[in-house]
Amino acid sequence: MFPIYWTGWKRHPTPSRSFRTMLLLLITLSLSWSQMPTSGEVVGSFQDHCPQFFLRETPPLIRLPPRPVRICQRYQNLYRFATLYDKDNRIPVYSAYVYNPGQAKRPKKWMVEPQLINSTFQREMETEGDFLNKKGPKEALCDSQAILNDYKNLTDCNRGHLNPNGHQPNYSAKSSTFTLTNIVPQFIKLNGGAWNNYEQTTMLQMTKGCQETFALVGAVPGDTYIAGGRVNRPSHMWSAACCVIDNNHLRSWGILARNDQNVVQKFTLGQLEAQLAELYNVNRVSLFHRDCPRQ
Ligand SMILES: *[C@@H]1O[C@H](CO)[C@@H](O)[C@H](O)[C@H]1NC(C)=O
Ligand SMILES: *[C@@H]1O[C@H](CO)[C@@H](O)[C@H](O)[C@H]1NC(C)=O
Ligand SMILES: *[C@@H]1O[C@H](CO)[C@@H](O)[C@H](O)[C@H]1NC(C)=O
Repeated sequence: MFPIYWTGWKRHPTPSRSFRTMLLLLITLSLSWSQMPTSGEVVGSFQDHCPQFFLRETPPLIRLPPRPVRICQRYQNLYRFATLYDKDNRIPVYSAYVYNPGQAKRPKKWMVEPQLINSTFQREMETEGDFLNKKGPKEALCDSQAILNDYKNLTDCNRGHLNPNGHQPNYSAKSSTFTLTNIVPQFIKLNGGAWNNYEQTTMLQMTKGCQETFALVGAVPGDTYIAGGRVNRPSHMWSAACCVIDNNHLRSWGILARNDQNVVQKFTLGQLEAQLAELYNVNRVSLFHRDCPRQ
């Protein structure tokens, strides 16, 4: 389609302003139509559906898995955060959210994402039990994502949140983080140790004076699996934040942890991006909009 417009453009060496505007409009429309998802929850683009979880509405530039799925995590009729999911490894690549810690009791119910099976399913997360009670197909569910059974009988790892419930303001927002699409097999000692300390203590200290803090937490796929090869066990986990102090001032930081040690390493955002580029084996990783300082 584009070359046809391009030829037309050449035939009008000085296209009028309105012609150019119309051309742009047509191209924009056809692009957005082609990316339009059939339904709300699993989306074609984060920018179109839940941009509010990214600084300056800009999702990160990071290595995509072969079958990436963009999920605007929806619970009780609200978008709560965003997750890029890797359907082959059955773990998230990252979750993006706004840091807004609050007090409420810890939720217990774990949920799954019906739209990973097919966009004809409901766009809200729900428990596996509720899904199966409505005669949802179990095999298709198992095939499309990790289920609770995958996380049973683990010896040295457990369910590690990317977006932790402690960074959410109220009970329903906390509940929305208990979806297995936001979970990776995490080294138990790290999950309850240095990582937890970063989530609870370091984040609180680092975000002093921030109006708004955008967080991005991810996992680098590893060489080992749990659940008989169904679910990848990440080699590393990372977390980064960009804090908005006021219109002209932002601040950033990041951490990286091997998923077999109880140690987190602190980095500048620029250093973390460089480390991740190596781990993902790509030229460049950009976690936040360029306005966020890398130092
Ligand atoms: C999704 O479900 C619809 C209706 O059951 C079906 O026609 C379609 O082929 C399914 N799509 C995929 C990708 O399985
Ligand atoms: C977990 O371990 C128990 C006892 O060792 C065994 O009976 C059960 O089948 C295992 N479950 C899974 C899902 O592997
Ligand atoms: C919980 O927090 C979310 C995010 O700030 C907000 O949109 C929602 O209205 C809150 N819900 C309740 C029940 O307070």
